[in-house]
Amino acid sequence: MPAVPPESAMPDLPRDLAPRLAALAAGDRDVPRYTSYPTAPHFNPAHDDADWRNWLGAVPEQAPLSLYLHVPFCRSMCWYCGCATQIAKGDDAIGHYVDALLTEIALVAQYLPPQARVSQIHWGGGTPTILGAAGLQRVTDRLAGLFAFDPGIEIAVEVDPRRFDTDLARGFASCGVNRASLGVQSFDPLVQQAINRIQPFGDVQRSVGLLRQNGIASINFDILYGLPRQDEHSLADTIEQAMLLQPERLALFGYAHVPWMRAHQKRIDAAALPDHDLRLRQFLLAEAQLNRSGYASIGLDHFARAGDPLAVAAWSGRLHRNFQGYTTDGAGTLIGFGASAISQLPQGYIANLRGVAAWRRKIGTAALPVERMRALTPEDRMRGRIIEQLMCNLHVDLNAEAAQFGLDAQPLHDDLIALQPIAAAGFLTIEDGVVAVHPQGRLLLRQICSAFDSYLPRVNTIRHAAA
Ligand SMILES: C[S@@+](CC[C@H](N)C(=O)[O-])C[C@H]1O[C@@H](n2cnc3c(N)ncnc32)[C@H](O)[C@@H]1O
Ligand code: SF4
Repeated sequence: MPAVPPESAMPDLPRDLAPRLAALAAGDRDVPRYTSYPTAPHFNPAHDDADWRNWLGAVPEQAPLSLYLHVPFCRSMCWYCGCATQIAKGDDAIGHYVDALLTEIALVAQYLPPQARVSQIHWGGGTPTILGAAGLQRVTDRLAGLFAFDPGIEIAVEVDPRRFDTDLARGFASCGVNRASLGVQSFDPLVQQAINRIQPFGDVQRSVGLLRQNGIASINFDILYGLPRQDEHSLADTIEQAMLLQPERLALFGYAHVPWMRAHQKRIDAAALPDHDLRLRQFLLAEAQLNRSGYASIGLDHFARAGDPLAVAAWSGRLHRNFQGYTTDGAGTLIGFGASAISQLPQGYIANLRGVAAWRRKIGTAALPVERMRALTPEDRMRGRIIEQLMCNLHVDLNAEAAQFGLDAQPLHDDLIALQPIAAAGFLTIEDGVVAVHPQGRLLLRQICSAFDSYLPRVNTIRHAAA
């Protein structure tokens, strides 16, 4: 196990950086992560599935599709978890879920062009591997029967390393999986205890070995900062150990403590959480460590090795952001399957019923399991594009975007007033309607984007919150 660098050996941040960022991010108002625009709280109740059927029917024949499959089950609950998941009540519940997924896929496919092209499949959760190799294969076979997989299709699965085995790894190979994202979170035993997720380094090492032996060439690690009992040394040690396993990509998420939304988070000792300034320091030091190890910073919180397609897409301005986070996938149509899954089409967003029982019941009536939806206005599309540009490229030309959508740029220029304090602090520049966020302003990216969010109450100051 690598040694933690002694305090004196840890490179420090530029002296005034953290306080300058902290001053801007003080006050801590919740700002979205902008995986969609408008964001999910602005979706409306859907009365029936008529719009969804029409939108699916309008998908052009050769349009590449991206598919998302949500599996809202886990074997145990991590206390920090903010995902849409629940403890699986026996294997029957999982079998019924697979049956309903197969039905939902067939229901949706009947409205799409026959053998529609699929360029990406993403399995998320919860813990998708809870379906077992056989369950994953049944769903893959159904998809392969109804859709045409692109030769270069990307098939990604989120993996819990505590419960990954040879059978699953072989199942992945058989299903054509070529990317895996492992929930690592922290290697520190004290932190693991505080978040109810005991996961020794050996679990992750073994999972990576099994994945690589079975030809899964692209591996991502999720790592969290801002966890209870976590400090910058513990995080540095976790990253150092992660580097030994050489993942192609790494996501560094700030722990979102929202016990009023996720009751199990109440079991986390709030007094053991690092404060706002410490969180900023943790992120900045971890980012510097990753950069020194050859991982390029991408968007808000992602990192990738130089030749990785995510890094290449970021450098060439082809990075995208959707409900799964950052992606190289430019398919304009994302179709979500499973309870609480969200779909994104050029016309707008569709959210499935959140409760598993309600979702299954609706599918049982041969209706699409829609709960909420949001049709996009031209202004939504323009603002969504501006926010995506900032989140992906840290750069946007407001005049060019307004011209592309045939809309007036003046309201966007009016929004710039909210960015003045961040510009004055040196974290971004604004010139002739071009907003360029400096690398050190990455942590303010969400609030920078919020300046262009017309659904947040208008204020003449920055909207507060850091990553
Ligand atoms: C669906 S889980 C990953 C797969 C699998 N369930 C696991 O935990 O290994 C998705 C990721 O969301 C992140 N996450 C979960 N809860 C979070 C929270 N409250 N704040 C920030 N990130 C969170 C974790 O890093 C986690 O790996
Ligand atoms: S972090 Fe992953 S394994 Fe833990 S409860 Fe959430 S979804 Fe399940």
